[in-house]
Amino acid sequence: MNASIIVIGSINTDLILTCEHLPAPGETVLGGDIKTVGGGKGANQAVTAARLGAHTRLIGCVGEDAYADLHLQAFAREGIQTGAIRRCANIPSGTAVILVDTKGQNSIVVSPAANAFVSKEDVENAKTHFSVGGILIMQLEIPLETVVFSAQRAKAAGMQVILNPAPAQPLPAALLHNTDFLILNEVEINGISEKPISDEMTLLESVETILYSGVQAVILTLGAKGARYFSKKQQFFQPAFKVDAVDSTAAGDAFVGAFAVALSEHQEPVQAVQFASAAGAITVMNLGAQPSLPARKAVNEFLEKRRI
Ligand code: RIB
Repeated sequence: MNASIIVIGSINTDLILTCEHLPAPGETVLGGDIKTVGGGKGANQAVTAARLGAHTRLIGCVGEDAYADLHLQAFAREGIQTGAIRRCANIPSGTAVILVDTKGQNSIVVSPAANAFVSKEDVENAKTHFSVGGILIMQLEIPLETVVFSAQRAKAAGMQVILNPAPAQPLPAALLHNTDFLILNEVEINGISEKPISDEMTLLESVETILYSGVQAVILTLGAKGARYFSKKQQFFQPAFKVDAVDSTAAGDAFVGAFAVALSEHQEPVQAVQFASAAGAITVMNLGAQPSLPARKAVNEFLEKRRI
């Protein structure tokens, strides 16, 4: 049987505006009609895992607003277990304001709101779901102390931990020690590294430091350039699949969710990264986070068309 996946993370309402180019400081630009869709790195990764066929549970917080109900209804439709999502009184649900330009590049500002209240107690209350062989996925849009605590709990329960340190911040040694797979982009590896990364040598030094802190593998996502996998045993490069980019929002989340699903199916690292890259590429082809995340059939067909 495939392992089940628990995601502890953020749940946001994404307000999306498309524009010719992203405004510079002090500049006003005109945009298209505003679109409201489900987002949040935690929720996006959980939706991906569920759409790709994994038994998925999301632990997080929503606020006391109409968006909270819409999120919970949407998760239920996806088949995600929502019993450990807490409603926080007197605060709104998390919100992200996202600007997307005609090249598919974006700028995102997140208001954490209820996400800032995801606590150790929320995790403790859900600990019966932490079981041997399970997979835990986390990001950094919830309090760091909750992430550190959850990683410790998960490892003690015999789970594998995937951390996507986004948005980036320095990571305590205790967190890296309890992380199996660190999936991050170029901005994020700079954000967590002690020394600035300026070239291949400084990048490899940073990766080596992470691997020696207890992480099993580092997966560096490079957007349109592909992805790199580093472990003590194996290193490889996965070229990006060429697609017409509409919006890169949540491509990283699709990658993380899909990698977790591949891991739960005991796929080898090369296949898992390929599968995750395909999920990320499909996500880039449409506007918005959750509306763009692929179903299993879409990823399988995408890979078949490329004869993989
Ligand atoms: O990774 C994309 C996500 O980042 C968006 O859905 C937004 O809500 C922010 O959390």
